[in-house]
Amino acid sequence: MTVLTANLSGIDIRAEIERLRKERNAVILAHYYQSPEIQDLADYIGDSLELSKKAAATDAEVIAFCGVKFMAETAKILAPEKIVILPDMDAGCSLEDSCPPEKFKAFREAHPDHIALTYINCSTEVKALSDVIVTSSSAETILAQIPPEQKIIFGPDRHLGGYLSRKFNREMLLWPGVCIVHEAFSETELLKLKAQHPGAPVAAHPECPPHIIDHADYVGSTSGILNFAKSFPGNTLIVATEPHIIHQMEKALPEKTFIGAPGADGQCSCNICPYMALNTLEKLYLALRDLTPRIEIEESLRLAAKKSLDAMLAMAGATVGKGDLGAKD
Ligand code: 13P
Ligand code: SF4
Repeated sequence: MTVLTANLSGIDIRAEIERLRKERNAVILAHYYQSPEIQDLADYIGDSLELSKKAAATDAEVIAFCGVKFMAETAKILAPEKIVILPDMDAGCSLEDSCPPEKFKAFREAHPDHIALTYINCSTEVKALSDVIVTSSSAETILAQIPPEQKIIFGPDRHLGGYLSRKFNREMLLWPGVCIVHEAFSETELLKLKAQHPGAPVAAHPECPPHIIDHADYVGSTSGILNFAKSFPGNTLIVATEPHIIHQMEKALPEKTFIGAPGADGQCSCNICPYMALNTLEKLYLALRDLTPRIEIEESLRLAAKKSLDAMLAMAGATVGKGDLGAKD
């Protein structure tokens, strides 16, 4: 974790970030789960796939990645000549933690006739052990291109894997990882909320468990959910994903009401991603000033991981930028 030893009192953090962004020729990329203050000063906001594409395409010299570590590592894998900084190196992910590379390797070796279709929320080492990476916005398009007779290991998110498996009526061996944030939604509290807002649709991220997905009118990536919020006909939407995404909805549609799906306490505060929350404006300023914490990846590992990411980018093809798993059926 970045230790804030610097005395930042008297410093206009926003003005300094502005100055450093120009001086360093830096681009600030932010995920929708970042705090509103970070979202508001980012050059680009997006889902995992969109941010990977931006990182690969930017001509900035420095990528300041306001997201979690696997996202910043993806940027470095795709843009090795850039300096990639992450405001807090402890910004991890419970899905990544659930899938240690040596255990994943042993699992693959025990199933030599399976290919590994792997969610981008994993370490660089696990990407290097995988055949094709998917994001929530590209998973369906990619799965549809894999011949039906091909056996598949899907990791590390068993809920996304289970959702795809049910939708495609296709068996897959699922790694038992979960996102602690999406796992925390309560079905009982969601049903109470639906009763209080009759007719309000529910939009859910596919990292949610099936008992939440079963009540969703729309299932998709963060960008997909945002697009749904811009097009649904009613006035109130229940949002079953990390609540910071609501900031973009409220900016785009101030006349509509967006309610975060609740956890067991009836609030949505327990669904704030604790890893994403480690990044702050102060840490972003220090990272731009000092160009650290910096993502470094050993070259042979990077090249091995790049293969499965390149496979994703090639297979995702037409879906890139649309960010949508599509309507639930
Ligand atoms: P998206 O690709 O939908 O933005 O998902 C990233 C993530 O970590 C969701 O928890
Ligand atoms: Fe990982 Fe879940 Fe946080 Fe996304 S919301 S970064 S999947 S812990």
